[in-house]
Amino acid sequence: MCGIVGYVGSAEAAPILLEGLRRLEYRGYDSAGVATLEEGIVSVRKEVGRIDDLRKAIAINPIGGSTGISHTRWATHGKVTRENAHPHFDRSGKLALVHNGVIENYASLRAQLEEEGHQFHSQTDTEVLAHLVGRAFDRCSERTPGALVSALREALGQVAGTYGIAIVHADLPGVLIGARRGSPLVLGIGKGEHFLASDVSAIVGYTRDVVYLNDYEIAVLSDEGFTLSTVQGNGADYSVTKVDMTEEDVGKGDYPHYMLKEIHEQVRSVTDAMRGRLSHEEATAKLGGLNMSNAELRTIERIVLSGCGTAFHAAMVGEYLIESLAQIPTECEYASEFRYRNLPMTKDTLVFVLSQSGETADTLAALRESKRKGHRTLGICNNVASTIARESDGGVYMHAGPEIGVAATKSFTSQVTILTLIALLLGRIRNLSSSAGTRIITELEALPAQIEKVLQLEPEIAKIAKRYAHSKVMLFMGRQFNYPVAMEGALKLKEISYIAAMGYPSAELKHGVIALVNPETPSVVIAPHDAVFHKNLSNIEEVKARGGPVIAIGTEGKGKELSLVCDDVILIPDAPEILTPILTSIVLQIFAYHIAVELGCDVDKPRNLAKSVTVE
Ligand code: G6P
Repeated sequence: MCGIVGYVGSAEAAPILLEGLRRLEYRGYDSAGVATLEEGIVSVRKEVGRIDDLRKAIAINPIGGSTGISHTRWATHGKVTRENAHPHFDRSGKLALVHNGVIENYASLRAQLEEEGHQFHSQTDTEVLAHLVGRAFDRCSERTPGALVSALREALGQVAGTYGIAIVHADLPGVLIGARRGSPLVLGIGKGEHFLASDVSAIVGYTRDVVYLNDYEIAVLSDEGFTLSTVQGNGADYSVTKVDMTEEDVGKGDYPHYMLKEIHEQVRSVTDAMRGRLSHEEATAKLGGLNMSNAELRTIERIVLSGCGTAFHAAMVGEYLIESLAQIPTECEYASEFRYRNLPMTKDTLVFVLSQSGETADTLAALRESKRKGHRTLGICNNVASTIARESDGGVYMHAGPEIGVAATKSFTSQVTILTLIALLLGRIRNLSSSAGTRIITELEALPAQIEKVLQLEPEIAKIAKRYAHSKVMLFMGRQFNYPVAMEGALKLKEISYIAAMGYPSAELKHGVIALVNPETPSVVIAPHDAVFHKNLSNIEEVKARGGPVIAIGTEGKGKELSLVCDDVILIPDAPEILTPILTSIVLQIFAYHIAVELGCDVDKPRNLAKSVTVE
């Protein structure tokens, strides 16, 4: 949510900053700005809209200098206006600052500064922070990086909330300063140049050597080097990490959208989620990252799975998986509820938090609350350098590669795959026989080829999607393992096409939703040939009896009954019911994608959304 890029070196800063912002645009994209140090002054350009609008403005009115900061915004405080776009300035106009996060006590600080005569030009919390740092620096007699760091420490001591920030000051040419608490910041090491970014994807085109800042750390960067210290004034240790992400990973390749690229990457991402984790010999999954012995895992009496958005839907599939394979009572909690709810949890409760980015504020808070209560808390994350990955007691990495499309796709199927492995492991140390374990492993190994077949259905799904693209409302239903998929299918459609869509368990139809059924409201029914197939079929009949069009997802070779009643049928390969969510969800991703394209929506950057929500 919001993106930061900073540069100090000998090259022109603006093109590097713009390129970095373009890579981060998925994090927030309502307005953007750049500030550089040019001959003793800070030059700034800001635009409402996309990075491309800023690029065009800079092409007309260029901005020089080889030190600078930049930001792409997802509004929290204050409307989307040029005034509210970052960078923001202090009273002197010499200090420019960009910020991710939220300063919770900004209103009282602002009132206090206004009493002292400070004037503000925006409604943002960030401008207050810029004034605080500038005020403290202007009280120093020295104009050195050390003095600015002391001023920053003083200012940060006054604020409550979260921040990832980058600062430049006209009196300190060739100096770039960053600090973090709660909002990620990474420092990139180049040759004669250094970078700051809120996400490593912004700078992988320039360097692979990075240092991930920890909370309460301050970095001072110049072309030649950098130093790290803490907000409290102590020195800070660091280690340099080699990033294995390539520029290709963060590019679109030949695809028109990241979302489509990521949908098609699922053969590989699901394979990678299983890679090296299946043992035929022991008929189980090997998950060393859990940092728990089988004896410890056996003592688990209850599991809580928590996450937000798509990760929560994956958790819901996990609940069915763990309960059916391992018979351990399992519960899903929205992270935003879990963090404030006083959920009674016995000492033998194991908590998993699921997060693609590993930075979602509510999920991180749920992790911390769970740990505070003394529970072992494990993460299922994609971003290995994320805060959740670092703070959890262990976990399983998704290895899905960067997911850039705002609507999550491959992260869902990777999370479900990993939850299947966890359920298998927990089942095998309890009630699941070795032959059952072997069967599940064989079925998991067959999955990538089945995903490939689903992807080949794209032209057929696209045709169907086009026919329904102009619907105002769409209903999604499924049962058991596919009830969460109905929720996820509806979420995908809402997110990228703005069609009102809702997902619910098929049988709930009769308890209210049926009132919405009419010839203009299509229902998507996930009805693979599983234990509840005939129950789903009855629900389809109920919809049809009321004139509602039905698009069904069934099973290859067993779709005849569906074809007789439904308007459209999409058939997935025959898979065991526990694995059908991975296949049916991909059908719904493709369906939502083609509806959004048909409607001319901006698939990768849907309105009002952000890829990673790092504020509460
Ligand atoms: C945002 C994104 C969703 C995502 C959710 C959780 O709302 O738009 O696509 O599912 O955050 O993100 P996480 O990174 O924690 O999985």
